[in-house]
Parts: sequence; structure tokens; C-alpha cells
Amino acid sequence: MAILDKHKFLETNATLLLIFSFLVVTIGGLVQIVPLFYLENTIEKVEGMRPYSPLELTGRDVYIREGCYVCHSQMIRAMRDEVERYGHYSLAAESMYDHPFQWGSKRTGPDLARVGGRYSDDWHVDHLRDPQAVVPESVMPKYGFLERKLIEPTHIEDLIETHRLVGVPYSDEMIENAAVDFRAQADPDSDYDAMLERYPGAQVRNFDGQPGISEADALIAYLQMLGTLVDFSTFTPDASR
Ligand code: HEC
Repeated sequence: MAILDKHKFLETNATLLLIFSFLVVTIGGLVQIVPLFYLENTIEKVEGMRPYSPLELTGRDVYIREGCYVCHSQMIRAMRDEVERYGHYSLAAESMYDHPFQWGSKRTGPDLARVGGRYSDDWHVDHLRDPQAVVPESVMPKYGFLERKLIEPTHIEDLIETHRLVGVPYSDEMIENAAVDFRAQADPDSDYDAMLERYPGAQVRNFDGQPGISEADALIAYLQMLGTLVDFSTFTPDASR
């Protein structure tokens, strides 16, 4: 049989075609999937990245609950207009502890990947309370209720343990001290040295300027951390990969 005849035989025999198609897809799939089991890591390690502190992680949960990602992305593309507006393009490592990631797919508002340190805490409080008072043309909703909602770290250990379950390298010590660290970060008068050792670069402040720890405290702690962990004055991409 010439090759064309063989092919015709295959194409006109449904069962055989099914078996051969299955074989082809299996081989194709294996070629793509098997190498992934032998790659230790597809993310370039970057100095400065650490798991979120308990307060930041709580703020991140508020961010997700309120749907901030619906209007805000957290991924700066490696294009000139983006880099000039927002700063260094986002690295894969910067979202390696994000479960789920917050890259987003829509920008009604600006990208927030490097918003940390761009504004003062007071600015964030005012802006969350009434965005139009700060940026008159803003279409962002008001989130003033967050500063009135006081929170306790009741479930913080479970939250961190869940993140450890999906691969974030939280230590036993971090889990044991989660509630203490949660409170320490929002209280500049506390003994926060041990918290800073566990979460280097964490910012310790009364973020919303009011007594008690509110959802706004947690959210602002999270916003002020975004994009600040990697020191881009010393970062050089590893081109050998
Ligand atoms: C309906 C869309 C929408 C939602 C939802 C939304 N925002 Fe915004 N946001 C905007 C727009 C538009 C701007 C730009 C104007 C302004 O600054 O208010 C903005 C601006 C910002 C800025 C200033 C960014 C910069 O670089 O100037 C921050 C910070 C911010 N939003 C945080 C949040 C947080 C946190 C949430 C969730 C609690 C949120 N936004 C929800 C639309 C939205």
C-alpha cells in the first residue's frame, strides 16, 4: 500500500483513527508535560521576596473580597509606556507567593503592582473614604466602611497554614506567632523586632491613624508593601536562563 492509501484506510476506519489520534495526542502531551517534572523551578529567584506578613495577608484578603482586582491589575508589562508610568516591569518572582495571583485583566484604574510608598497612609485613608475628594474624575467606589470594621486575628493561623499548604514557605515559628505579628505591625509602640526578622522590610505603623486594627489598616499595609520588596537599584536579571 502506498502511504496515501494507508492514510485513506485510517481515515475511513473510525476505530483505528480514534486509536491513532489518541496515540498522537498522548505522545504530544508527554513531550510537553514530562520535562516539567524535572525542572526544579521555572521562576528566577529574586532577593527580597518573602511571604506576606499576617497583616498584609489579611489586607490582601480584603482586596480580593472587595473586588479591587476588577478595576486594578498588578502586572507591569515590559513595554516602554508601562515602565515609564509604573516602574520596573513585574517579575514572576514578585507574585510567586500570590494564591490566587492578582495580575488582573482590566485596568479601569491604574496598575497597583508598585503603588507601595507612592502615597502616604493619610492619602490612602482619604482616597478610600472618598476617591472623588482626591481625584475628582475618579469612578472608584467609596470604601470608608473599612476603617470602621475592627478585626481580630482569630483565624490568622489557619489562613497562613492554608497558604503553606499550597507551597508558600511559612515556618512553624511564623504560624505560632501569627497573631502577635499581626498586632505588632499595626502598633509602632509594640515590640516588633521579632516580626521584622520574620518579615524583613515589613512597615510598622498605625496605617489608618485610628485606635484599634481595622480592615483599612490591613488593606493599607498591603498596598504600601506592593512592589517594594525587590530592590531594583541592585537587581540584575539572570540572563543565563
Ligand atoms: C470601579 C473600579 C474601581 C474599583 C472597584 C476600585 N478602584 Fe481603585 N481606582 C479606580 C480608578 C478609576 C482610579 C484612578 C482615579 C483615582 O485615583 O481615584 C483608582 C485609583 C486607585 C489607587 C491610586 C493608584 C495610583 O497609582 O494613583 C489606589 C491605591 C486604588 N485605586 C486602590 C483600590 C483598592 C484598594 C480597591 C478595593 C478596595 C479599589 N481601588 C477598587 C477604580 C477602581
